[in-house]
Amino acid sequence: MSLKQPENYILAIDQGTSSTRALIFDHTGRKVIEGYKEVPQYYPHAGWVESDANEIWNSVLSVIASALIDASIHPENIQAIGISSQRETTIVWDKVTGEPIYHAIGWQSQQTAKYAKQLAADHGQEIQDKTGLVVNAYFSATKVRWILDHVAGARERAENGELAFGTVDSWLAWKLSGGRIHVTDYSNASRTMLFNIHDLQWDADILSWLDIPAAMLPEVKSSSEIYGVTQNFQFYGVEVPIAGLIGDQSAALLGQLALKPGMVKNTYGDGAFAMMNTGTQPQTSKHNLLTTIAYKLDGDVTYALEGSIMVAGTALAWLHDSLKIIDNVPESRQAAMASTDDDEVYVVPAFNGLGAPYWDPDARGAVFGLTRGSNRNDFVKATLQSIAYQTRDVLTTMTQDTGITISELMADGGASRNRYLMQFQADILNTPVQRSSDEETTALGAAIAAGLAVGYWQDLEEVKQIRQAGRLFTPDMTSERRERLYAGWQQAVSATRAFKP
Ligand code: G3P
Repeated sequence: MSLKQPENYILAIDQGTSSTRALIFDHTGRKVIEGYKEVPQYYPHAGWVESDANEIWNSVLSVIASALIDASIHPENIQAIGISSQRETTIVWDKVTGEPIYHAIGWQSQQTAKYAKQLAADHGQEIQDKTGLVVNAYFSATKVRWILDHVAGARERAENGELAFGTVDSWLAWKLSGGRIHVTDYSNASRTMLFNIHDLQWDADILSWLDIPAAMLPEVKSSSEIYGVTQNFQFYGVEVPIAGLIGDQSAALLGQLALKPGMVKNTYGDGAFAMMNTGTQPQTSKHNLLTTIAYKLDGDVTYALEGSIMVAGTALAWLHDSLKIIDNVPESRQAAMASTDDDEVYVVPAFNGLGAPYWDPDARGAVFGLTRGSNRNDFVKATLQSIAYQTRDVLTTMTQDTGITISELMADGGASRNRYLMQFQADILNTPVQRSSDEETTALGAAIAAGLAVGYWQDLEEVKQIRQAGRLFTPDMTSERRERLYAGWQQAVSATRAFKP
């Protein structure tokens, strides 16, 4: 009698803004188990968003442990770990103690808006040419500078090579490896606003304009290779290869298998991020979209055009946590369906300014079109609709930039589970929306990156077999109504931007 060999798996960590997940995938791409934990956010001043890097790390340890235990999988049967993570969020830590010297400054945080304005005035066009990014506090560069300026002794320690900077991927790889590797990948590096996406190097000019010592920076690697191995109790002494690092939006593009130029996905997470694969050449935007690195696989860098929407799922969390008008986020669908108004209420959730294509850091949220009859359902519906309207703003811009008519939008992320939102999205775009079969596309992208690096899957051709399409939402709205509603949204955005308290 021969004993059945235990199966091998890939572990994906998806570290998002407000939560951390660990997912274990088998060879067919099936999700075997998922561990989930929320991560607290801190708002110390208006417009600031921070988190605690140690809480992020502890959340990762906790979800890995619960996934392994719940699925009764021994770490020996984990072939590799892939990490997809929120991008731009900035952590600076001591290379010896591994202790962060300040909170992680979140990507949504606007605490460095003044630095960004000055930088844009001094070097805006040069930085856009070098990095593909519109100068904004969103990216890591001004956040690193802020920490060096505000934490006592930080600059001197950084100049002495005592401090490390990293985005969340970098921090987690460092922690998982017991401080042995200080790396990032091209997709995450391209979101720091310190990385030249043409030369594929940290940019010496930008570093000098911001006075950031190069000694702090991680080594930039491809999105799929063995960077190091785990050194942690969770793995019972087993050295599991850390083999995939990829920004979460790039991971979703990969997980959707949007591998051909012209394919577009939108991930409805805390923010929403529409990305068009533009192939091996960077495509410059004339309308303030971002040119960014999607990933580097098999030696090739793939670029993307991105429209970053700062607030999507965060607005639904706001309805629940702050306004307390829904008991849970999924309930937003029932509320929207129960609304009987004629879509005349508009919510512009510009909590931290507006992202693409407006890039207006001073804008703040607003509500328009209220009448005495407006109720909670109308308000919830208008908030969901705002996500779809913002998506239309960026997809219209993408078409203007590339001349490519988007024939289908691939959708994923937590809020894509909301059927009302998906149908309204298809209606307001007049484009079919193909939703992924499950919301874990981002984690799957990280698993693919790691699995390819260790030969768990041979190549992307093999990976293509594991993807299953989900539900298709087809447009069902008259063009007269669509354009009238969208014109109302455009007015609401203009009025929001005109309001300067
Ligand atoms: O650029 C920020 C983005 O990477 C954050 O993603 O999943 O937290 O919305 P998410």
